[in-house]
Amino acid sequence: MIAHGVRHLVQISDLHVGETRQHRLAGICTYDSFSKILADISARGDYADMMMVTGDVAAEGKHSAYRLFSEQVRFFEIPYAWLPGNHDDFAVMQSGFISSPYWPLLELGHWRVLSLNTAVPGQVGGRLEPEELAFLEQSLRAEPESPFVIFMHHPPMPVGCDWLDKQRISNADDFEGIVRAAGNVKALFTGHVHQEFSAQWAGCPVYTTPSTCFQFAAESEGFAMSDGMPGYRWIDLHPDGRIKTGVRHLTDIEHRVDHALAGY
Ligand SMILES: [Fe+2]
Repeated sequence: MIAHGVRHLVQISDLHVGETRQHRLAGICTYDSFSKILADISARGDYADMMMVTGDVAAEGKHSAYRLFSEQVRFFEIPYAWLPGNHDDFAVMQSGFISSPYWPLLELGHWRVLSLNTAVPGQVGGRLEPEELAFLEQSLRAEPESPFVIFMHHPPMPVGCDWLDKQRISNADDFEGIVRAAGNVKALFTGHVHQEFSAQWAGCPVYTTPSTCFQFAAESEGFAMSDGMPGYRWIDLHPDGRIKTGVRHLTDIEHRVDHALAGY
């Protein structure tokens, strides 16, 4: 890596890989869909210094799903870091079924990349436990001159869908206080909402990212899916602290969502 060049991240989210390669959710084979996303990232050559996997890796938190995920990422040789979502089992993820250990703080040149665990066992909605908030505060304060980006599963702010907004981080005010006081967070990136969205929150831009399988409908009061294609986010971290980011959707695949699903 070049010491002072642009750092390239990609974010994938909400893979919902099942216990077998054939597992389908809302008519979509989640393993195939995730594999095609990896192929697309890989086809772009040395684009990604690091891939951030922001939760709901597995459909039901089963070790065989994490094995399938790991095998496929190893095949494409993409370096990655991960964090849990509400469909994951953090303990299973940490017990060796995923080929990369949990790395909550990464250094990429002078950039710092922080992963937070917002998942609460047995709950759909997100929360940051006191030890997670303490880790955040300590990390930001320890290096006040370093620009940080933060990754997590649940968003802290509403995204315009009533049913999903009820699931956002319940103690987002505590989180906001720490981010504002530190002043060195440049952006936050989340998953969970299966759609692209951005907002200003705690003085920073927050970006949500499409799922690698199916998308939820934007601005929907209740649970609803869209026909949106699988996607992922690219993020360029510039040496002067600027960030450029955007979303890529797959285009040349068959993608038929079964809208009969009433929840997931
Ligand atoms: Fe989720």
